[in-house]
Amino acid sequence: MLTGIGDIASTSFITLYCHALETLSENPVLYDPKSVEITTELNKMLSTSEHTLDRILVSGTLDKRLVVHIALRAKKYDEYARDFLQRFPDGVVVNIGCGLDSRFMRIDNGSMIFYDLDLPEIIAIKKTFFNESERYHLIASSVLDSGWMEPVQQHKGPFLFMAEGVFMYLDGKDVQSLVLKIQEKFPGSELVCEVVNSLWLRPLLKKMLDYKMLQQVHLGKDAMFRSGIRDNREMEQWHDGIQFLDEWSYFDSEEKKLGWLRLFRHIEFIRKTQWTVHYRLN
Ligand SMILES: C[S@@+](CC[C@H](N)C(=O)[O-])C[C@H]1O[C@@H](n2cnc3c(N)ncnc32)[C@H](O)[C@@H]1O
Repeated sequence: MLTGIGDIASTSFITLYCHALETLSENPVLYDPKSVEITTELNKMLSTSEHTLDRILVSGTLDKRLVVHIALRAKKYDEYARDFLQRFPDGVVVNIGCGLDSRFMRIDNGSMIFYDLDLPEIIAIKKTFFNESERYHLIASSVLDSGWMEPVQQHKGPFLFMAEGVFMYLDGKDVQSLVLKIQEKFPGSELVCEVVNSLWLRPLLKKMLDYKMLQQVHLGKDAMFRSGIRDNREMEQWHDGIQFLDEWSYFDSEEKKLGWLRLFRHIEFIRKTQWTVHYRLN
């Protein structure tokens, strides 16, 4: 992996390469030409790496199911953002843990304000591929350092906060205080975030998950899932104003590329291993 990039930050390379591979595939679930441009450049740097994950990324041999899942997720989060912008064309979207994703380019309606926020090492790379503008901003900060909220608060809103593949890498108490802080500072905002089922974080199941991440996905040891929720209602219990709106699981998709995995939609425990929840924060 590139020097100075931590295990959690490097998960963004996997999602980026998934977008690129899917874009170049037949009947792509997601069309993301910027990911192809960035991976072509990164390949030059990663091609000499000895790291197993880097070799997999450069050779384009990431697991096909992972590629489709990540592409489906990005497409769904684009849809959530488009739906929000249809209701509020001048709204503000904050993409928490954005990685090297190019959602702004995919969904820009010409009037929205968009913030991409990630750890400084990822934003430093992102700055070499994306130009900031009056409506597109990059914030280099941990989401847990609430200073990032200040520039966002200068806008009148409404606000949509998205966290795609991020919260599970944070401690549960940090996720809870972050959500409550967003609610306090941006009352009436919406939150779309991916969560892991906390049942899967019990010791035996967690061992299986960690094994998969280390041995199959070749992630570093710090990029393990740390937190989750039991069900959609759990976050509502954090505060009276938190209102569950809807949910989405990969297996709900009709996408043919999912193949027999679509059958899992009927097994709630699997359907909700890792899924997306949408709340209003009143
Ligand atoms: C799995 S990647 C997802 C990237 C992007 N959302 C996507 O779906 O392509 C997780 C991202 O969360 C970011 N992240 C993890 N912890 C963070 C934190 N405390 N503050 C900001 N970003 C964080 C990582 O740097 C990484 O870019």
